[in-house]
Parts: sequence; structure tokens; C-alpha cells
Amino acid sequence: MNQIGNENLTLLISESKLKQRIKSLVKRIAHDLRGNELVVIGLLRGSFMFLSDLARMLYLQDIPLIIDFMIVSSYGSQTKSSGNVKLIRDISVNIEGKNVLLIDDILDTGQTLNFVAKHLIDKKPALLKSCVFLNKTVPRTVDFKPDYVGFTVPDSFVVGYGLDYNGRYRELPHISILSFEGKNYMED
Ligand code: IMP
Ligand code: MG
Repeated sequence: MNQIGNENLTLLISESKLKQRIKSLVKRIAHDLRGNELVVIGLLRGSFMFLSDLARMLYLQDIPLIIDFMIVSSYGSQTKSSGNVKLIRDISVNIEGKNVLLIDDILDTGQTLNFVAKHLIDKKPALLKSCVFLNKTVPRTVDFKPDYVGFTVPDSFVVGYGLDYNGRYRELPHISILSFEGKNYMED
């Protein structure tokens, strides 16, 4: 099923399970943030699929959105965060005095969202909330707590639903664990 060479994919979260979870997440977000226009900021590229599902479901909840994206880079090697986050592309909308929802695919060490949240707070939004699709159960190197979490996942390398390995597997409509024959992802 789409897998390449010595790479193995094992289904972790099915498409129907993730859609169901996002529906209930969106109800909570709509309940908490209703009343004002919401600026949704996604981190490219990992968050694109999650953000597009969230946006369509927020529309059904009658929450007007402005959508923008940022690009930051953090990965040192293929499967481990470097902890060294760089801003590649900033947002192009003004968020001063606005309610902002920051979206990312996965919280791993927390370095990326910590960096981006600080960057956005400097722009003086009225409110900044964060939402991650996945939260990895790893010891954080920084103390960042997301406001909304789709699923908690084990400390494995996961792909699909926007998340990639070497640019691949983003198109999977579900989340799978990627493993390598004879090799653990922590070793590279
Ligand atoms: P953090 O800065 O360590 O929290 O890393 C977050 C970023 O690393 C995410 O935006 C992802 O792009 C990437 N990442 C972390 N874990 C995984 C994974 O298991 N699969 C794919 N990308 C990951
Ligand atoms: Mg990412």
C-alpha cells in the first residue's frame, strides 16, 4: 500500500476515526471561539490536510475565517527535530487585536510551536490558541501545551494526513506508523 523499499506502514488512525475526532474538536473550538472572526494560521506543509478539514467543519459551525500559512523549518535529520527553528515565510495578514488559532500537524519536542507562538504573540493578537492534530508522548524539550489536541500518539515516526517522510506519504488519508526493516527511526 504505497510503501517503498524497506519502509513499512502500519495503520494507526483510520480515516473515519480521524474525521469523527475532528468533528468533536471543531465543536469545542466553535464553542470557545464563537463571536469573532477567527484567523487560522497553518504551518506548511504538514498541517495542510488537517487545516482544510478543520476549515470546512468550522464553516458548518458558522465561524468566519481568515486563513493564512507560515513556513518554518526545524528538522535536522529526516526523522528528528534539530531544535533549531527558522522562519522561512511569515504570515501576510495583520493579526493585531484578532483571535488567532495556530494549527500544526504534530507536537514532538515542542520547539516549533514554541517558536511560532512567541513570534505571533509579538504581533499582539487579542487571543492566541493552538491546535495540533497529533501530540507525541515524548519528554518535551520546551514546555509548550497546546489548547486543542486531536490524538495522542506513541513516540513513533508517523506519516499521512499531511505528515511526511522525505516529502512522501503526505497524501495518505489516514495516519500510519513508518518503520524501517532492521532499523529503528531513533537511530538515524
Ligand atoms: P517539534 O518542533 O519537535 O515539536 O516538531 C514538530 C515538527 O516536526 C512537526 O511540524 C512535523 O513537521 C515534524 N515531525 C515531528 N514528528 C514527526 C513524525 O512523527 N512524522 C512526521 N513529521 C514529524
Ligand atoms: Mg511540520
